[in-house]
Amino acid sequence: MSGESSTARKGKGGGTSVPAYELPWVEKYRPALLDDIVGNNETIERLKIIAKDGNMPHVIISGMPGIGKTTSVLCLARALLGDAYKEAVLELNASDERGIDVVRNRIKGFAQKKVTLPAGRQKIVILDEADSMTAGAQQALRRTMEIYSSTTRFAFACNQSNKIIEPLQSRCAILRYSRLTDPQVLKRLMEICEAEKVDHSDDGIAALIFSAEGDMRQAINNLQSTVAGFGFVNGDNVFKVVDSPHPIAVQAMIKSCYEGKIDSALEKLEELWDKGYSAVDIISTMFRVTKTIESLSEHSKLSFIKEIGFTHMRILEGVSTLLQLKGCVARLSKINMRPELFVPK
Ligand SMILES: Nc1ncnc2c1ncn2[C@@H]1O[C@H](COP(=O)(O)OP(=O)(O)O)[C@@H](O)[C@H]1O
Ligand SMILES: [Mg+2]
Repeated sequence: MSGESSTARKGKGGGTSVPAYELPWVEKYRPALLDDIVGNNETIERLKIIAKDGNMPHVIISGMPGIGKTTSVLCLARALLGDAYKEAVLELNASDERGIDVVRNRIKGFAQKKVTLPAGRQKIVILDEADSMTAGAQQALRRTMEIYSSTTRFAFACNQSNKIIEPLQSRCAILRYSRLTDPQVLKRLMEICEAEKVDHSDDGIAALIFSAEGDMRQAINNLQSTVAGFGFVNGDNVFKVVDSPHPIAVQAMIKSCYEGKIDSALEKLEELWDKGYSAVDIISTMFRVTKTIESLSEHSKLSFIKEIGFTHMRILEGVSTLLQLKGCVARLSKINMRPELFVPK
């Protein structure tokens, strides 16, 4: 069974003839086997045991976007059902109508359908993006899940498990996925770069990882867009594609603040502003950069983040002016200013 899906994957990934259109890389490199999914090792191990033993419980997989939830459910269903996948899986996602009527008709109809499966295997209903289902539709599922549980199991994938109503949660095993770490994203990106023979520099890959914040889908999409737009993946090109301020520039600004050089900090801020970045883009990059600057002492880091946090809040409340950012930069510069170093004119 697994041998089959791995050849299927090869057929898809390393196609011999070049298609006229290019498949999005996120799809082209979507893992087909549980083994190929990166990160969340303990949870994936549990899924592998389920895939081996059969008798899948109802499951809810929750976590932020782009970390392999949908992929895991699909891999699990494929591993459990192999050839019977087509017949024995009903897959509904956010783009399908999933109101009460669908639950009453389609899902119930599928649950009643007779499919011959090996012992210990059940039909699977995959409800992707389940948090966008209405509470009414979820309520309507309760009874169906119970009545047909000997032949049909449910797998929900969602961003927030608390959007799934309690009665469904209590019928399911809840698996929480955490965001992928930078080395995990790095490894996968490098594999794709190799397979696609992407021209890249180290700072380009670092930029992809920085801007994706643990979201593999975003990292891969940005990689492909950068290749499509520029042909070469370096830091500058990536930040043009993701349209956010270059962290090196922001870091230089923070450094000026740290050294109490307010004029140079303000100048750098104005340069960023003139490039057309919005206040939210600038302040959120400031936050992320400050978090990772190593030369900053723990104490200054905390005071910096506090100031940046307050400004972020004000900007989100609607005051997104250059003056607001300048105020923040001024306050940051003041933190480490030592008056005794300034000789009065
Ligand atoms: N853990 C992962 N390992 C390998 N690729 C991943 C992983 N998570 C996401 N991806 C890539 O991102 C794409 C989207 O993943 P998906 O499982 O649909 O995310 P979501 O968690 O939002 O459901 C996949 O097609 C795959 O290319
Ligand atoms: Mg998904």
